Amino acid sequence: MLSYRHAFHAGNHADVLKHAVQSLLLEALATKDKGFCYIDTHAGAGGYALSHEWTQKKAEYLGGIDLLWQRRQDWPELAGYFAAIAAMNGGDRLDYYPGSPKVAAHFQRPQDKLVLMELHNNEVDNLRQNMRQSGAAIHHRDGFEGLVALLPPTPKRGLVLIDPPYELKEDYHKVADSLAKAYRRWPIGIYAIWYPLLAKAVDRSAGLKQALARCGFERMLCAELSVGPQAEDFGMHGSGMVVLNPPWKLGEQLAGLLPRLAERLGQDGQGSWKLEATGS
Ligand SMILES: C[S@@+](CC[C@H](N)C(=O)[O-])C[C@H]1O[C@@H](n2cnc3c(N)ncnc32)[C@H](O)[C@@H]1O
Repeated sequence: MLSYRHAFHAGNHADVLKHAVQSLLLEALATKDKGFCYIDTHAGAGGYALSHEWTQKKAEYLGGIDLLWQRRQDWPELAGYFAAIAAMNGGDRLDYYPGSPKVAAHFQRPQDKLVLMELHNNEVDNLRQNMRQSGAAIHHRDGFEGLVALLPPTPKRGLVLIDPPYELKEDYHKVADSLAKAYRRWPIGIYAIWYPLLAKAVDRSAGLKQALARCGFERMLCAELSVGPQAEDFGMHGSGMVVLNPPWKLGEQLAGLLPRLAERLGQDGQGSWKLEATGS
């Protein structure tokens, strides 16, 4: 049974890292006139009202996007990400937060295509409602299996975002397994994989990165952002994004961005970051 609902976490520090990287990748794709395909294997609801009782329960956005939004003029490197947020809000207000599908729709041009997959029965209805004007192809299906089945896409260039809830530990195996199959079918695609950094007793990030390294992908960038120390038993102190086939400027962009995010989002000055590249 699927229990995860992203509304409880919308706009938190992990969303900031994920959607900032996603925006930089889409911006890079949109520098060429040729169309691109954006594939979201775990799309969620598309967008979130921050006033919703689920989002207000822990108000995680207050330790995430809210800290940047107040001073967004200081972050020119995130102008595209902020424009995607502004498109859902009026003026300076921050009432709504875009999920990855709405971020993608912001960068979409007539020649680009969006493919969104979501397995949860209610969440896919929310996704259809929130994305009804985007022309996106929305699939109510398993994103791991759907990814492999839908590749290679048309247009032939593009980005895949893999953002599972990781509530089931099988998700870690499925990420590596489906990615290896997807890459064989579409080696020129850009793939962005989000993962959580959890307490020592339950963290599986090292195993995931080892599994991805064993796949032998040619070029891989791994960016991590922590907002506090790693606890012993419980809690998410940060998250990471692995990007396969990163655009050439991404490493440099993230080397500038990650220290600033760690400083701004770190709790009690305990933010930290990591950036590792493999391949040329
Ligand atoms: C972390 S949320 C996605 C958030 C979204 N990518 C964003 O950034 O706004 C994960 C979503 O995956 C959905 N899900 C879980 N297992 C899935 C599967 N096997 N295939 C597709 N969707 C799945 C959940 O219902 C949930 O909505």
